[in-house]
Amino acid sequence: MDLYGRDLICTQDWTFEELMAVLELAAKMKRERFSERWSSVLKHKTFFMFFYNPSVRTRQSFECAATELGGHAQYLEPRAMRLKTAASAGETVEDAAKVMSRYAAGIGIRILEDQVPYYGAGDELLLEYAYWADVPIINMADDRFHPCQGLADVMGWAEWYGQGPGRPDYTALQGKKLLLTWASGALARSWCSVQEALLIASRFGMHITLAYPEGYDLDSQVIAWTKAHCAAHGTSFEIIHDPESGYEGAHIVYSRNWVSPQAYQDGMFQKQSEIQKALAYPGWTTTAERMARTDNAIFTHPMPVDRGSEVTDEVASGPRSVIYDVAENRLHVQKAILALTMGNL
Ligand code: CP
Repeated sequence: MDLYGRDLICTQDWTFEELMAVLELAAKMKRERFSERWSSVLKHKTFFMFFYNPSVRTRQSFECAATELGGHAQYLEPRAMRLKTAASAGETVEDAAKVMSRYAAGIGIRILEDQVPYYGAGDELLLEYAYWADVPIINMADDRFHPCQGLADVMGWAEWYGQGPGRPDYTALQGKKLLLTWASGALARSWCSVQEALLIASRFGMHITLAYPEGYDLDSQVIAWTKAHCAAHGTSFEIIHDPESGYEGAHIVYSRNWVSPQAYQDGMFQKQSEIQKALAYPGWTTTAERMARTDNAIFTHPMPVDRGSEVTDEVASGPRSVIYDVAENRLHVQKAILALTMGNL
């Protein structure tokens, strides 16, 4: 299988076999973290990281990934470039993408939340870069998708239900129940992480319960894809609107705040009104009492965690929390993505 030169905008764009190629290499790279085998895969190559929004995990894990592969990751911000925007003249995406392709082996882009004027605009920008660039475009989280997070999630879950760190068993996830629940909080989060989790969990044969208050619907295209994956596997997909009942029988609990479909109005991200709206639903917190009703579930979250709102400290720092394993897996998954799409393997 040849993934060299491929863009990664959403896991939905890649076949199951292609995703497994990434995950298998990621596990191998995790088991042999500093082996000479990987230390020249990106030798002399640079990966541009173009961040419109802040990040802890994504920036740091991509920088470490490039270093461990013998390459370099360069941090870029749009304000350091003269890019054309709706409000100002400047360089077009065509010119920026073509020029950056002459320097770098690949380009990662993050754009979401308050950096886009309407839902989907961030993803559209990535697709425009992918159209013009001659090197792979890697989605580092846009307003629709977060493929690196989805791959790290499923790797972490398969390690817990498999043979441990670096030894995931993806077949063990088949027939397991994921509860993905909206959670209280005041961070007004984009939909990318939860939507990627729905796509990846359904792709790997899990039953899915999606819980959220009325009015917090996600992208209908993502829901349709998720239903289609579940139908293909013979697994269930249900949407519920109460914060309690989904915990029954769950094997994986994922709680996360997200904004409503009214988050963008008149070309602006309505952060304050979304925060006010979310405050009307204070009881959507994952607690030890709720986890006790599951089938000994693990707790997962893409981080940053809004402790006390999305989940209690007791659960987030408890013995069944996989949040740090998943965060670590961002490194291994991204090393595999860089190696396969732009490296010398
Ligand atoms: N999960 C995630 O993408 O984290 P950062 O926003 O810190 O990069």
